[in-house]
Amino acid sequence: MSETELEILQQLESDRQRLHMSYSNIEHRVKPVWMKYRLFFLVGCFLLAVVVGLINYLSHHFHTVTPCLSPACQWASAHLSTSADPFTQPCDYFLYTCGSDRLLLDSERGQRSHGFTLHTENQRKSVQSKQEDGGLTEDKTLSRKAVLLQYLKKILETDNGMNSSAVQKTKGFYHSCLDTQSIETAGADPFLTLIQKLGGWAVSGQWNQTDFNTTLGLLMRDYNTFPFFNIFVGKDPYEAARGINKRYIQIDQPDLLIPIEWNSQTEKSRAKTETLRPFLASCQKYLDLLGAPKSSSLIHVGSFVSLSSQLAVAFSPLESRLSKGQLYQRMTIKALQRQAPAIDWLGCLQAAFHPLPLSADDDVLLHNLPYIVQMSNTIIKWLNKPELSNSAPLHTFMVLNLLHTLMPAMDSRFFETAKNFSMALGNTEEEAPRWKHCVLETERGFDSVLTHLLSEVTAQKEAEKIIQSVFNSFKSKLHELEWIDQTSRQLVMEKVDSAIPKLWTTKEPSSEAKLDLLFSEMTVSNQNFFSNYVQLLSLWQKKRIELLITQPEDIDILSVRPFLFGKSLLFPMGMFVPPLFHPTYPRAMNYGAAGFLVAKDILHLLLPDISSQSKTVYAVGECVWTHYLTVSEKAGRGGEFPLSAAQQQEVWVQYTALQVALQAYHQNLMQQPNDTSLSGISYTRLFFRSFSQVNCEADPYHDSMPFEPAFLITVICAKYNLCPTSPQCSIQTKQNSLQAC
Ligand SMILES: *[C@@H]1O[C@H](CO)[C@@H](O)[C@H](O)[C@H]1NC(C)=O
Ligand SMILES: *[C@@H]1O[C@H](CO)[C@@H](O)[C@H](O)[C@H]1NC(C)=O
Ligand SMILES: *[C@@H]1O[C@H](CO)[C@@H](O)[C@H](O)[C@H]1NC(C)=O
Ligand SMILES: *[C@@H]1O[C@H](CO)[C@@H](O)[C@H](O)[C@H]1NC(C)=O
Ligand SMILES: *[C@@H]1O[C@H](CO)[C@@H](O)[C@H](O)[C@H]1NC(C)=O
Repeated sequence: MSETELEILQQLESDRQRLHMSYSNIEHRVKPVWMKYRLFFLVGCFLLAVVVGLINYLSHHFHTVTPCLSPACQWASAHLSTSADPFTQPCDYFLYTCGSDRLLLDSERGQRSHGFTLHTENQRKSVQSKQEDGGLTEDKTLSRKAVLLQYLKKILETDNGMNSSAVQKTKGFYHSCLDTQSIETAGADPFLTLIQKLGGWAVSGQWNQTDFNTTLGLLMRDYNTFPFFNIFVGKDPYEAARGINKRYIQIDQPDLLIPIEWNSQTEKSRAKTETLRPFLASCQKYLDLLGAPKSSSLIHVGSFVSLSSQLAVAFSPLESRLSKGQLYQRMTIKALQRQAPAIDWLGCLQAAFHPLPLSADDDVLLHNLPYIVQMSNTIIKWLNKPELSNSAPLHTFMVLNLLHTLMPAMDSRFFETAKNFSMALGNTEEEAPRWKHCVLETERGFDSVLTHLLSEVTAQKEAEKIIQSVFNSFKSKLHELEWIDQTSRQLVMEKVDSAIPKLWTTKEPSSEAKLDLLFSEMTVSNQNFFSNYVQLLSLWQKKRIELLITQPEDIDILSVRPFLFGKSLLFPMGMFVPPLFHPTYPRAMNYGAAGFLVAKDILHLLLPDISSQSKTVYAVGECVWTHYLTVSEKAGRGGEFPLSAAQQQEVWVQYTALQVALQAYHQNLMQQPNDTSLSGISYTRLFFRSFSQVNCEADPYHDSMPFEPAFLITVICAKYNLCPTSPQCSIQTKQNSLQAC
């Protein structure tokens, strides 16, 4: 696949994140501070040795470093005492790769799923992971995201007497989600009442033969439900390449509830046969829970499955549509009406974007016209089925899709059914705890309030400081690299020199008044999660409109990795939360954990192909590996195998990130020589201790790390004379004729 094609797919994927975010219009606010410090920096390098001596002096002669006693430190101290000290471990310790028992940070799957899976996997994968790896792999950002979710939980559960109504509504929503007792008591009633409001349902009572187009429009407008086709908003990448950034309504195949598979030979999709039985069973269970009489429910479920299978035929994967030029097909609403007459396109789109004026001459972009045509024909066929006498199956199709949208607000019986089905599909993912599910649901609707709350508690100045100093240290490290040729050096240097690292915050702090206005129409009830959830769905319509007519600045509060936006290298606030970072921590802690992660991310992001551009990567990777082999031999566990290029690069990245973070910390100490201690540990030793707690982080490159990263402490201590004490597992470089790396 060519690069442009990949870009098109990425663009589409991120637009498909249902209006979730846009990176547009982010101001370049922070001046590149490193420019000012460049000279200072060079001097700094010379002074480093002096500092190292100073630290040793300080830590040996003044054992009374001021301890940090802030609440955050007390918590961190308790945590630290339960983790291993890499300095006192025998070499054996380092021979395992990161085991779960050694993880400081829990590695629960912090995905943005609803905890139930009918078909949602593709819908809400984190945008961030798309940014990082082109959407080719699953989001593996586990631990950092888990840390962030925990922190948001704490924010939501803290009552600090704030009286902004938006904040109160947000916390009220979260609490109503946690109140499972009320949800259980309400049972299916709120949903059934909603159905009545929409004109009833033939399956569980009476149906008033509501108009198909009207119901469809209502579902799209008020309930963020798109049964027959999907709608989102985004640019046309072909136009964007020419600098035109107009946004369009885009129409795609829907997310069908029935699991389907693609046959690349016949180029058709169909329902997966082996999942049909459990699918039928789960649908029947839903109807049962909604009070449908057993006698008739099988007929309804049967036609639902049959209709779904017919719609599935023209489904096709993005790659196939891309190769056939079916993506971003432009046509007017009028022309679309001619192609697919079963839908009142103008009416439905007007409902979805009410009160925006839309006309039949407006352009829309289609991503699977063959599906749309097939869908229209299918609907007409079902309308005219003599044996069905009315369009009840079409209505049932819409109601079950609505149920799916509202599933997060349904009681546990629905939840269990969905889980059962998901397990039948072979999905073994563990169920997320309720609070996590509630934090994620809250974020879906109140992300602007959460961003506001997070930015209030984030120590922005300190976070900026650590970003800047790690970046400076990274740049000086680049000069040590030996390049394969001047061109690649030049290219990388240009990229690095023009990058402006900064904290990703809102352009202007959103005022509470503005947020209050945004949620003014919402009335959050503490014991009625269903009603709160329905209101949240209608907020999505506002978001849709905003995306189409403005270019809203939208920060993904759940992202935990930096990304490049134009020249800005943006670090999300979610990277700077405890226990990785806190403004009251000893700086050694912050540099050892958050600083190391910042350095590692910068290396991955700015030097993705470094192993092919620099010989140093190979040399350092092999050197560290030789150290490792020596140690493992000493421990009687040989087993030499050559490192792959990816492994060499990852070893280099982590080793370099550790050096970069350490150097940044030392520079920082030069400016402000005193630091506090934690659990009686301070300075460099605390830095390493902090590092050894996060280095097992499961990131997308985790698999390429051939050994326990804490081992790098041993390697680094063999080189510089900067370790306060010699680790128990130390490497005598001279005796073993090992070189320092
Ligand atoms: C919050 O309460 C304080 C006093 O208790 C009051 O001065 C302030 O106006 C209130 N703010 C809002 C947004 O209601
Ligand atoms: C169906 O229509 C009748 C007469 O218009 C009305 O009284 C009844 O409430 C409607 N039922 C539903 C479920 O909307
Ligand atoms: C929806 O509206 C369109 C346009 O008015 C009409 O052609 C179509 O038959 C309607 N669909 C149904 C299922 O009633
Ligand atoms: C889940 O599946 C098991 C067996 O497959 C069944 O016994 C149980 O009743 C199901 N539970 C629900 C809630 O559907
Ligand atoms: C470090 O020293 C400065 C001034 O010398 C003082 O203001 C600051 O509080 C000290 N910080 C710590 C952590 O001891």
